[in-house]
Amino acid sequence: MKDKKVILVTGASSGIGYDTALALAEHGHRVYAAARRVELMEPLRAKGVEVMRMDVTDEASMSEGVNQLLQAEGRIDVLVNNAGYGYFGAVENVPMDEARRQLEVNVFGLARLCQLVLPAMRRQGSGRIVNTSSIAGRAVFYMGAWYNVTKYAVEALSDALRMETRPFGIDVVLVEPGPIRTDWGLIAARHLKESSADTAYEEQGTRWANAMRWAYEAKFFSGPSVITRAICRAVESRHPRTRYCRGRGAHLTLVLHALLPTRWWDAVMRLGGRLRLGS
Ligand SMILES: NC(=O)c1ccc[n+]([C@@H]2O[C@H](COP(=O)([O-])OP(=O)(O)OC[C@H]3O[C@@H](n4cnc5c(N)ncnc54)[C@H](OP(=O)(O)O)[C@@H]3O)[C@@H](O)[C@H]2O)c1
Repeated sequence: MKDKKVILVTGASSGIGYDTALALAEHGHRVYAAARRVELMEPLRAKGVEVMRMDVTDEASMSEGVNQLLQAEGRIDVLVNNAGYGYFGAVENVPMDEARRQLEVNVFGLARLCQLVLPAMRRQGSGRIVNTSSIAGRAVFYMGAWYNVTKYAVEALSDALRMETRPFGIDVVLVEPGPIRTDWGLIAARHLKESSADTAYEEQGTRWANAMRWAYEAKFFSGPSVITRAICRAVESRHPRTRYCRGRGAHLTLVLHALLPTRWWDAVMRLGGRLRLGS
């Protein structure tokens, strides 16, 4: 392959990250896949992917991972910051430690990895950082407050970073998935149900959690390959876009959010807590 890149993909043990690591390796790139559950990434090894254990809340784990990659390859062309999860729940209910933990994974881990790869990218005079955000970084969802906070932060951080790194030949791209059929929805719904139990928000929280679980299990949403294609484009295009918003319903959601008066948007979102779907 003409333009073979050295790429680190986080959150590669499942969903979008796994699919992306596989696709990038199949495109001929040198891919390092990172996550905590290394056993889930074993099948990637057969495709030539290097697998590493990394917890993005652990400084030593992140710096050792990046050093290991740099020692082996002597360079890093692309960082795909994809690790993340959703802890849904009413603001009144979500324990502050859980809110902090979500920020640690979705924002501070992502930011720290940018810091760790930037010196090498600056030395090379080139590099690309692809951050997985969400449409939840541009529109607020019912009982998704802390997840929204993390993804709004990823949007702001990425836009700021793009301006700073441009003189060094480093580009920053945001990928904004709509709902994608992965474990993400089931994890977010489980947290929502747990945090709503025995509280004033139990009825709405439980219904919304059941509806989310139902929608994710009903194969209602796009599969991860839609996002993988966008990430591959963000990695391989000579002139990538600043944002790739992808997935069934993603654009429509953002258009509605832009057009509807805020209280109308609130009302549409709150319908989630009235739905009787799933159990
Ligand atoms: N699916 C959706 O509907 C959707 C929509 C918009 C945006 N997104 C975003 O897309 C990204 C990928 O999510 P997904 O849908 O592919 O969900 P997923 O299948 O649950 O994958 C999440 C990945 O993040 C990793 N991760 C979680 N905590 C971590 C930690 N502390 N350290 C290192 N890795 C960690 C997990 O690996 P380990 O647990 O093995 O560490 C896993 O590989 C996330 O940033 C998510 O917010 C998803």
